[in-house]
Amino acid sequence: MRISRFLFFVPIFASILGFVGCSRQPDSLSTLQPDSNSLEKRYEDLIVGYAQLGAESEWRAANTISIKETAEQLGVELRFLDAQQKQDNQIEAIRKLIIQKVDVIGISPIVETGWDEVFQEAKDAGIPIILVDRRAAVPDDLYVSYLGSDFLEEGRKAARIMAELVDGKASIVELVGTIGSAPANDRYTGFREVIKDYPGMKIIASESGDFTRARGREVMAAFLEKYGSEITAVYAHNDDMALGAIEAIEEYGLKPGEDIMIVSIDAARGAFEAMIAGKLNATVECNPLLGPQFFELALKVVNGQLIPKWVPSIESVFFPEDAAEILPTRKY
Ligand code: AHR
Repeated sequence: MRISRFLFFVPIFASILGFVGCSRQPDSLSTLQPDSNSLEKRYEDLIVGYAQLGAESEWRAANTISIKETAEQLGVELRFLDAQQKQDNQIEAIRKLIIQKVDVIGISPIVETGWDEVFQEAKDAGIPIILVDRRAAVPDDLYVSYLGSDFLEEGRKAARIMAELVDGKASIVELVGTIGSAPANDRYTGFREVIKDYPGMKIIASESGDFTRARGREVMAAFLEKYGSEITAVYAHNDDMALGAIEAIEEYGLKPGEDIMIVSIDAARGAFEAMIAGKLNATVECNPLLGPQFFELALKVVNGQLIPKWVPSIESVFFPEDAAEILPTRKY
């Protein structure tokens, strides 16, 4: 069944038109505005710190490569720190980068809350923060821009696809991402916003698989143990957890993609391979290749130029019938 793609593009453009606004750097960062005697900085002049959250998924690996490769291509000096999925480590990383007096700090916050203090420290040191991939629940003046996806819309897209696939009737289990993270919060909410209009679609269980394949598999095995063939659909907040769920479903003796419909998010290569094998029914794109846009924003910030408060990624939805043709073109 081919679902009208038009349905999925309209909200993307609406959100771009509706929410993106330009903002100058907050006043307390005005010392970063170049004075009339100073020359504009170029990429080769920049020292950029990056506090990555970890390496939990295929998506994250592609995101890290994009940041590192782009820095190298542009000649930017990159100080890259990996927090190994712990917020304390990520906070520590920001403090190290402040001591090192980098020009800009990029961060993908592992969870939404708990950043005010350390972001304020960066602001006091005159170092602008760019949120990459994930938002943080902080006042607007504590970061200069957010570069990343509309996670709410990703959840809505997944629900619209699911509703079409199951004809408005399903017993769904949900594999949630990292608890407290922006994508898990918004994909959870966006999905529910849509399925509330489908009385035949019920979420019978929802649990975190922490965005990893191993946890996705474990949680799905436990769901199957408890609900067995009552489960007719899986909504996974990312492809890695969907791939883990596919393994658990096969071990249980059911056919993923047929006995149990599966929709996930990311559009990583592993998802395309699963769609080609008929085991995954759709994947909603979440683009990790943010390196070029991130460094462009960083350069503009240090040169005191206008930058948007939100730079949203343009993303699509992919289905099994196109997977074989599209896979060779995928970069992650
Ligand atoms: O923040 C983006 C999410 O983080 C991706 O969907 C997921 O795969 C990753 O771990």
